Amino acid sequence: MLENSPTLLSIVIGPFLILLMFAALIRYNSHAALIWNEMILGKINNFIMNQSKEERILNFVLQHAVRGDPQSVVDHIDKYCSQKEWAMNVGAEKGLILDKTVEEVKPSISLELGTYCGYSAVRIARLLKPNAHLITIEFNPTYAAIAKQMIEFAGVQDKVKILEGPAEEIIPQLKKKHEVETLDFVFLDHWKERYKPDTVLLEECGLLRRGTVLLADNIICPGAPDFLSYVRNNNRFECTNYLSHLEYLKVEDAMEKAVFLG
Ligand SMILES: C[S@@+](CC[C@H](N)C(=O)[O-])C[C@H]1O[C@@H](n2cnc3c(N)ncnc32)[C@H](O)[C@@H]1O
Repeated sequence: MLENSPTLLSIVIGPFLILLMFAALIRYNSHAALIWNEMILGKINNFIMNQSKEERILNFVLQHAVRGDPQSVVDHIDKYCSQKEWAMNVGAEKGLILDKTVEEVKPSISLELGTYCGYSAVRIARLLKPNAHLITIEFNPTYAAIAKQMIEFAGVQDKVKILEGPAEEIIPQLKKKHEVETLDFVFLDHWKERYKPDTVLLEECGLLRRGTVLLADNIICPGAPDFLSYVRNNNRFECTNYLSHLEYLKVEDAMEKAVFLG
């Protein structure tokens, strides 16, 4: 028994030490934080509750937010995701940069790439002037269904149209199928390796006009280097960088505004 005690001790203490080391790493490393939240905590919660995180976010909003009040919906998503479970919404801090940009541009027609649960769509829609519209593209049907309910609960369904499918397939259909002439504002928040090719596609499809404002999220974490070097080394774009933090975490992130000069 005594001979076995060091082995027994390491079996008990080993995993505990690994968890402690991982917890310390999370505090200081953005990628560890994301892996911990998305791959480990999220999966454990989904298994225990037999429900996805996105369903839990929606249920929290349906139970606690005020129906027909988009600000209340935004606030309750932020409350849930800062206190209970991290999620990839643009969040409250970068949300203020998004708000400021929408307020400056006063867009009539906007495009969002990456809807997820509809947080930023509701956030943008609540600031749109009468008769202005947002088209938001999402290729995950489960997320698109959650976003639809979120947007309806917030009461902004007349301002927001969700198009389900890959951005690269939908962008070329925007003119003919969805009667878009040119876009006033584009929020890029889908998978980061698509930022550059979809920006090029928007240009090729003639959807950008002189003064169209692109705002790209997650320029540092996880980063979109191809997009950044494309817009910054291109005299058709005028760029501004806004330093901030990754949603719901103390991890550096930034947004990039790129104004199309034609
Ligand atoms: C960071 S989340 C969007 C968060 C959302 N904008 C917000 O702030 O509430 C990225 C979303 O983009 C979607 N996505 C990624 N690549 C896409 C693509 N090529 N076409 C359409 N949707 C895409 C993902 O399924 C995911 O829901």
